[in-house]
Amino acid sequence: MARVIAIDGPAAAGKSTVGRRVAEELGSFYFDTGLLYRAATWQALRQGMPVDDGPALAKIIDTTAIEVRPASVGDGRLADVWVDGQDVSWQVRRPEVDRHVSAVAAHPEVRAALVEVQRAVAHRQPTVMAGRDIGTVIFPEACLKIFLTASPEERARRRLAETQPEAGAEAFQAVLEALQARDELDRSREVAPLRKAPDAIEIDTDRLSIDEVVQRIVALARARACGGQ
Ligand code: CDP
Repeated sequence: MARVIAIDGPAAAGKSTVGRRVAEELGSFYFDTGLLYRAATWQALRQGMPVDDGPALAKIIDTTAIEVRPASVGDGRLADVWVDGQDVSWQVRRPEVDRHVSAVAAHPEVRAALVEVQRAVAHRQPTVMAGRDIGTVIFPEACLKIFLTASPEERARRRLAETQPEAGAEAFQAVLEALQARDELDRSREVAPLRKAPDAIEIDTDRLSIDEVVQRIVALARARACGGQ
């Protein structure tokens, strides 16, 4: 699919920041699939739904209007997320959603309920799509697949800088453990686990600036004539 660039990788590896910039440079649409799983989790928690009931969670997704769009408000959000007409762009980043989202995302029924939404986005326009299984399951025929990584410590440092810039060592440890717990669940699930597609290009971002990562991906995309041009 010449219109899709897939960016997968573990939590807080920089997929959103990098993906958004790559999309801008190529004139593509940026879509963060994690927000769909976060919105579904938020809705389930709000309704008091247990996160271990896959079929019930899928039913919730089928009967909920989830919309993910480019940010319309300049309050630091990376995207607009609406659930049944309510702006939940900040709620979906809350710690309780972080804690439960991987359990929700592990259910085959939940993943099946979200497949078509993701495919439809890229059928409408050239898209840079970030997630865990974009290159392996959603668009195995993507024109370019990137697997973005960084050490757990670097990822925790980045997530903390984004969410609690004033926090100290204790908060760092908590964020590190939460990221690692989520990665472990995402890697070990049976359906669409987090893993690098055989034909994905891995970029370890530990010692690279955002600009360097973006330029590397844009160069790869241009060389393959994929993305929005
Ligand atoms: O922003 P961050 O990297 O912390 O996470 P996210 O991309 O918002 O994804 C949140 C969670 O949704 C992940 O930990 C996965 O459990 C799930 N997810 C998934 O299973 N498949 C995707 N394509 C995207 C996210």
